Amino acid sequence: MARPPLILLFLSLLALAFVSGSTASLRKKVGIYELKKKDFSVKVTNWGATITSAVLPDSKGNLADVVLGYDGIGPYINDTTYFGGLVGRVANRIARGRFVLDGKVYRLFINNGINSLHGGHRGFSQVSWTVTEKVDGEFPYITLYYHSFDGEQGFPGDLDVYVTYKISSSYELSVYMNATALNKATPVNLAQHSYWNLGGHDSGTILSHSVQIFGDEYTPVDGNLIPTGKIIPVSGTPYDFRRPMMVGSRIQELTYGYDLNYVLNSPRNFDGMREVAVVSDARSGRELKIWSNQPGVQFYTGTYLSNVTGKGGYVYGKYAGLCLETQDFPDAVNHPNFPSEIVNPGEVYKHNMVYKFNF
Ligand SMILES: *[C@@H]1O[C@H](CO)[C@@H](O)[C@H](O)[C@H]1NC(C)=O
Ligand SMILES: *[C@@H]1O[C@H](CO)[C@@H](O)[C@H](O)[C@H]1NC(C)=O
Ligand SMILES: *[C@@H]1O[C@H](CO)[C@@H](O)[C@H](O)[C@H]1NC(C)=O
Repeated sequence: MARPPLILLFLSLLALAFVSGSTASLRKKVGIYELKKKDFSVKVTNWGATITSAVLPDSKGNLADVVLGYDGIGPYINDTTYFGGLVGRVANRIARGRFVLDGKVYRLFINNGINSLHGGHRGFSQVSWTVTEKVDGEFPYITLYYHSFDGEQGFPGDLDVYVTYKISSSYELSVYMNATALNKATPVNLAQHSYWNLGGHDSGTILSHSVQIFGDEYTPVDGNLIPTGKIIPVSGTPYDFRRPMMVGSRIQELTYGYDLNYVLNSPRNFDGMREVAVVSDARSGRELKIWSNQPGVQFYTGTYLSNVTGKGGYVYGKYAGLCLETQDFPDAVNHPNFPSEIVNPGEVYKHNMVYKFNF
């Protein structure tokens, strides 16, 4: 006789906790959130923890949105370009979607030829995250949370993932990611996949942008875009961006433009942050500097963009934007000589980045 009322009480307490929790801070409903500091505005949606726009002035004071994307959220749902998304559980390719960990063979969702790419069919850029915090003020930020379940897209173990986007200084966007493995060892490699065009998302190609990458070596790939395991100098190749070089200078020498992982030079700062790259656009006067604590950066020139209709109806063709995705080396889980991307139960993966704009 006493049981039903107790259960009812318990359920109503639970409901109360849920309601107060949801009104206080937890928002899973998909929306677009703006971080704004003076005339610098960054918009983020909790669909895929995606950056949908970044607006800032050029050297003449004209504002433009410098990331490629869509109007509204709808087109992001089935997007295959990864515009602005936070990709995971493992960014980049895993050969044949297969790896062995603690003696067990794992098979992932195959979504890129014979490989798994960017976490599979419904990776972290293709799921709804929960907004745990959104704070305005001098340094506005938003924190998003995603619980990835054991077996999701084939990956082992439950994983709690957080990403915070924060305007940490004038015209500076910081990204803080962490992921805690709850019960099984798992590979983790998160990457921010924004496509930048410093002339404005609708200004044409990035071929006249100048790029400098602080990596003396790269990881060459085979015909399936999987690293061979070698680490070789960029010196004497079209991949040499050690000094600023126009993207278009040597791109004709490459069949598919740039889509490769650079081995970043050693950290020089006390906190392990490395200089990653500097991108500049002489026409607009805008410059983007990137730092991160990761060992590699994938440089991709949007070669596979095939006339995708984006914001304002603008059509993004080949080379409409470039990506600099800081991360672990591609397919690290199958290459013992690459830095390990395995996170053991109880351990925390941490990935920090800074995007600093000048104009
Ligand atoms: C996404 O694709 C699925 C399957 O093709 C379809 O049912 C759904 O309507 C699409 N969603 C959007 C927002 O386009
Ligand atoms: C991960 O980030 C969230 C949001 O900033 C923070 O609350 C949490 O403490 C972090 N987790 C770890 C283990 O550092
Ligand atoms: C994209 O559009 C351009 C201009 O109309 C055209 O030359 C090109 O072939 C198209 N590319 C693809 C992949 O459809």
